Amino acid sequence: MVSTQTTIAGFTFTNCLMNAAGVFCMTKEELEAVEQSAAGSFVTKTGTLAARQGNPEPRYVDTELGSINSMGLPNLGVDYYLDYVTELQYKENTKPHFLSLVGMSPDETHTILKKVMDSDYNGLVELNLSCPNVPGKPQIAYDFETTNQILSEVFRYYTKPLGIKLPPYFDIVHFDQAAEIFNQYPLAFVNCVNSVGNGLVIQDETVVIKPKNGFGGIGGDYIKPTALANVHAFYQRLKPEIKIIGTGGVKTGRDAFEHILCGASMVQIGTALHQEGPEIFERITNELKDIMTEKGYQSLDDFRGKLNYIN
Ligand code: DHB
Repeated sequence: MVSTQTTIAGFTFTNCLMNAAGVFCMTKEELEAVEQSAAGSFVTKTGTLAARQGNPEPRYVDTELGSINSMGLPNLGVDYYLDYVTELQYKENTKPHFLSLVGMSPDETHTILKKVMDSDYNGLVELNLSCPNVPGKPQIAYDFETTNQILSEVFRYYTKPLGIKLPPYFDIVHFDQAAEIFNQYPLAFVNCVNSVGNGLVIQDETVVIKPKNGFGGIGGDYIKPTALANVHAFYQRLKPEIKIIGTGGVKTGRDAFEHILCGASMVQIGTALHQEGPEIFERITNELKDIMTEKGYQSLDDFRGKLNYIN
């Protein structure tokens, strides 16, 4: 009876849980494992125009409370992922998917998006405005002028469903300014949040990852309160057509429940998926359904965004 079905931009997903970009999504084999799991969809590794090796290893480390990474955008090139999600469109019993992409420059982003526009792919695209790990390249979404410029250019030619992956913001004024920009565009969704950028994890007297002298994006338990705040801040500010994807610190059904309560239509799992593997989707789905049953909720609509405040 209890359903975790959800909808974004007219695409229906039988389950609201899926991977977060960067985890279990580098190769077709990994994507296939998510496809065959209880997840409602998958998102690909962020693809760039040319394949990239990324930063030197070690570049990802799990910790007791989460993870740190500075992968540096290793990927097999956007064509690899575009061809795969396009091919899957024609399979029976397939799910709708998300193609994650970004260029190494605004020009390259436009080249890639025009390629997707000209392709047979009709699914969702997640434009990644929040990669914190390429030395010398600041995160696009922390520069509101550039973000607005890119979106204004993109929507002159791009008419397929498109959303954006955001970094966490930490100031109410930044939520206001970012939302004012996003509300000007026909975005299908915003995904909150990417990793908390440029943290530092130390073991004994040494950093745990090699790139950038140990600085890297933080995920997992550390970031759930920040993720929930970003989901809810944008849920409160964005026009209702722009759906929210909640990402950050999800490792139990309770965590997913909280993201949905804050306004998420879909919930992504990164660090915990890396630590536990694709079986995690069944566990968390069951835990979420148990909470819904206990509370008498039959669908996500019964509680999405209905966070209580203290008066
Ligand atoms: C990488 C990390 C990110 O957080 C992201 O959004 C894209 C790429 C990376 O280091 O590969």
